[in-house]
Amino acid sequence: MDNINFTSKAICYLFLMALFARNQAVVVDVKAKGAKGDGITDDGPAIMNAWKEACAAPPPSSLVIPPGTYMAFPPIQLSGPCKGPIEIKATGATIKAPPEPEKFKTDTWIMITFIDRLTMTGGTYDGQGQVAWKNSNCNSKQTTCQPPVNIRFGFCKNSLIKNLTSINSKYFHIAILGCDNTTLDHLTITAPGNSRNTDGIHLARIKGLNITNSVIKTGDDCISFGDGASNIRVDKVTCGPGHGISIGSLGKFPNEQPVQGVWVKDCTLIGTDNGVRIKSWPAAEPGIVNDVHFEDIIMEKVANPIIIDQNYCPGHACKKGGPSKVKISNVSYRKIKGSSSTKVAVKFDCSAGSPCNNVELADINLTQQGGAIATSQCANVKPKVVGQVIPPACPSGPRTAV
Ligand SMILES: *[C@@H]1O[C@H](CO)[C@@H](O)[C@H](O)[C@H]1NC(C)=O
Ligand SMILES: *[C@@H]1O[C@H](CO)[C@@H](O)[C@H](O)[C@H]1NC(C)=O
Ligand SMILES: *[C@@H]1O[C@H](CO)[C@@H](O)[C@H](O)[C@H]1NC(C)=O
Ligand SMILES: *[C@@H]1O[C@H](CO)[C@@H](O)[C@H](O)[C@H]1NC(C)=O
Ligand SMILES: *[C@@H]1O[C@H](CO)[C@@H](O)[C@H](O)[C@H]1NC(C)=O
Repeated sequence: MDNINFTSKAICYLFLMALFARNQAVVVDVKAKGAKGDGITDDGPAIMNAWKEACAAPPPSSLVIPPGTYMAFPPIQLSGPCKGPIEIKATGATIKAPPEPEKFKTDTWIMITFIDRLTMTGGTYDGQGQVAWKNSNCNSKQTTCQPPVNIRFGFCKNSLIKNLTSINSKYFHIAILGCDNTTLDHLTITAPGNSRNTDGIHLARIKGLNITNSVIKTGDDCISFGDGASNIRVDKVTCGPGHGISIGSLGKFPNEQPVQGVWVKDCTLIGTDNGVRIKSWPAAEPGIVNDVHFEDIIMEKVANPIIIDQNYCPGHACKKGGPSKVKISNVSYRKIKGSSSTKVAVKFDCSAGSPCNNVELADINLTQQGGAIATSQCANVKPKVVGQVIPPACPSGPRTAV
């Protein structure tokens, strides 16, 4: 009897404690830390001060950027570890970077690092990149030559980034490194088709990441996979303009980790230079691409809908001395339909040194824009064909030179 009484009292007490703890959730508003939100005054220090307080507070805590327009000078550094799960909420807010590249001393505008269970919700992050895209030469006042990435996430594990908008980044919009077990949902990424190096989302050295329900219109790759990207799912993403979904480039730098376990499903590419691409540099370094699957993809006027390019050499800036040492295996293309803006809809230019292994094409129907018959080109690959594949894969034999 006493025991039961004690137990129920204890449960009651714990319940009240839990309620109390809930009410203690710390919410730090950047306005309370002096942010003006007038779009002119540098609110960067207020944002960082609010972050410090929220990060040091007992969880669950949050940093709130209320609706309004904020100017934030670089670098904005929000780093952990924090006391527990933390949220950055900016629904309805627009945060602007200064347009001048020389105001940046690092390669990043907003740097978010070493946080476990970060939730980042809403907000429009405007990189104001128009000036940076025009400067092809380094400005003498710049300490770093590479223009800044809009938002970098480093080692933010178990996180959720949702309903966030990135526009007109000076360089990549979002770069993510080491954020295992993370989800990106409902992102909107926008920059003009002719803006240089504005990759939408660049991933590297991550185990487990999902990108869903997002729209990416930009001047470079929609999503790019760097080395060590593994167990990545891309679902319901629309890309274009831009350079499409790209694995690589790989094989340029030593000690690259494999890209392994990639599923791209239910995506649409509109007017992009490439649809789904795997690229590696000739000669140079070894690497591995394994277990990569593209399924239910719609191509609209895409220049190279399906492409493996193991002679990737932009600006001819590579050593030519030999074939790529990157080994590509276990790649499937299933239910890929739509139009190619060029005659060659399927191009497999695999390495003569390490031919592509176990490449499957299943239920493909790619025609040239306007309805003309498209073609395929293959080198150093013998694709397995399942169902109807249009254009036929490698019509003139499996080892035709490209
Ligand atoms: C997403 O963000 C937009 C713009 O900030 C906002 O209007 C909308 O309510 C947000 N949606 C959700 C589900 O939070
Ligand atoms: C992945 O992250 C979610 C959200 O923080 C968490 O609930 C889950 O336990 C994590 N999974 C693993 C395997 O760590
Ligand atoms: C990604 O999606 C897959 C399949 O829906 C799920 O099993 C996995 O847990 C998800 N990973 C993350 C990080 O949410
Ligand atoms: C390709 O897949 C097969 C079957 O799952 C597996 O045995 C093989 O190791 C994979 N190839 C590579 C390079 O991992
Ligand atoms: C392939 O796509 C074209 C253009 O959309 C269409 O006219 C044709 O019927 C399709 N062929 C098959 C076999 O589905």
